[in-house]
Amino acid sequence: MSTKRKLRAVQVGCGGRAQTHIKAMIACGEVELLAICDIDAAKLKATAEKYNIPKTYASMEEMIQKEQPEFVDICTPPTIRTSIVEPAIKAGAPAVLIEKPIALLPSESRRLVELGKDRLICVNTQYQWMSHWQRIWGLLQEKALGEVRLLRASCGVNILEQGPHDLDLALKAARISGLPAPEWVVAQCWGIERFGKTPVPHDTAATVGLGDARLHFNAGPSAPNVPGESAIYLQQQVEIIGSKGRIWVSLNKGGSIWIDGKHEEIDTNWPRGDAESQPALYVSIRDALHNNTWKEFPTRVEISAQVSDVMFGCYASALGGGKVKLPQEFPDSLVDQLEKLPQK
Ligand SMILES: NC(=O)c1ccc[n+]([C@@H]2O[C@H](COP(=O)([O-])OP(=O)(O)OC[C@H]3O[C@@H](n4cnc5c(N)ncnc54)[C@H](O)[C@@H]3O)[C@@H](O)[C@H]2O)c1
Repeated sequence: MSTKRKLRAVQVGCGGRAQTHIKAMIACGEVELLAICDIDAAKLKATAEKYNIPKTYASMEEMIQKEQPEFVDICTPPTIRTSIVEPAIKAGAPAVLIEKPIALLPSESRRLVELGKDRLICVNTQYQWMSHWQRIWGLLQEKALGEVRLLRASCGVNILEQGPHDLDLALKAARISGLPAPEWVVAQCWGIERFGKTPVPHDTAATVGLGDARLHFNAGPSAPNVPGESAIYLQQQVEIIGSKGRIWVSLNKGGSIWIDGKHEEIDTNWPRGDAESQPALYVSIRDALHNNTWKEFPTRVEISAQVSDVMFGCYASALGGGKVKLPQEFPDSLVDQLEKLPQK
């Protein structure tokens, strides 16, 4: 057990994903969960009883004002992001964790980056903390793959739903390998799905420019299958190809590391990967806040917003923009225009 001071936290939202957050805060032993809140009284009561949490609130603002936490974990649907982060900060939240996707509209993503200039706003792309990914970050830091010129990432469902995880991993791999942030994107999209009222492409196929390197990304039916995977939500994979080796990782069906002609299989599993990475993420947040190193936090919203830039760049390219320069201030009307996408 660590002798370090625990992080004083509160949790907003007691829905499906919040259960994993609360379990992880308890499991990591480094977080003191002071209170939880939800506007749904039944979920609030059931969650408080399940995890033996003494204080509950119907209002987030009241909870923050009364509990004076160091950290506010917001686990609400993607239709509520800036509209809940702004009042949380106004009520006194010194640091905030939000879930993916960070934004449905370009202006929301920009606003979160602005709000995250003076405080930690970080994103719950917890895959980065899976033990195999932690090892891979080390290999990339050592340049074990040589020069990285090609990355591939894909997910079986739409870009807004799981794209934030796989793009997050691929862009982090690129960053550690010394490649620049996304400079342009060329994409094709078709079909429409919806998050609340917000349209999102059913299928996206994109090439992203990272200096001399390229990232090929697919989300939806154009994504390649993960061998042996039958669950569409688990159809997630990332590949990093360098001059001396290659790493392929799936979310739930293992992976491979080839370096200098040697091959090694790696074991990956969902939900085991989730159960190890979510507590590890909280420990990193505690360390970043207590050591005042939050500006370098790996999923700080300023960095995570690159994923949104790529996503909105895909929309702009697919809607006739051709090769779209990144980053760019896209208008929110871009999202409404997705209604024009071909349906097949
Ligand atoms: N990182 C991951 O692996 C992962 C996995 C699953 C879901 N998610 C993300 O987690 C987020 C939440 O998903 P979910 O499935 O838990 O949603 P959910 O709808 O089950 O739960 C959201 C909860 O937020 C509550 N809520 C809404 N407005 C509120 C407010 N103003 N104050 C307090 N509570 C409020 C709702 O009543 C509900 O209980 C989504 O963005 C989703 O994409 C991430």
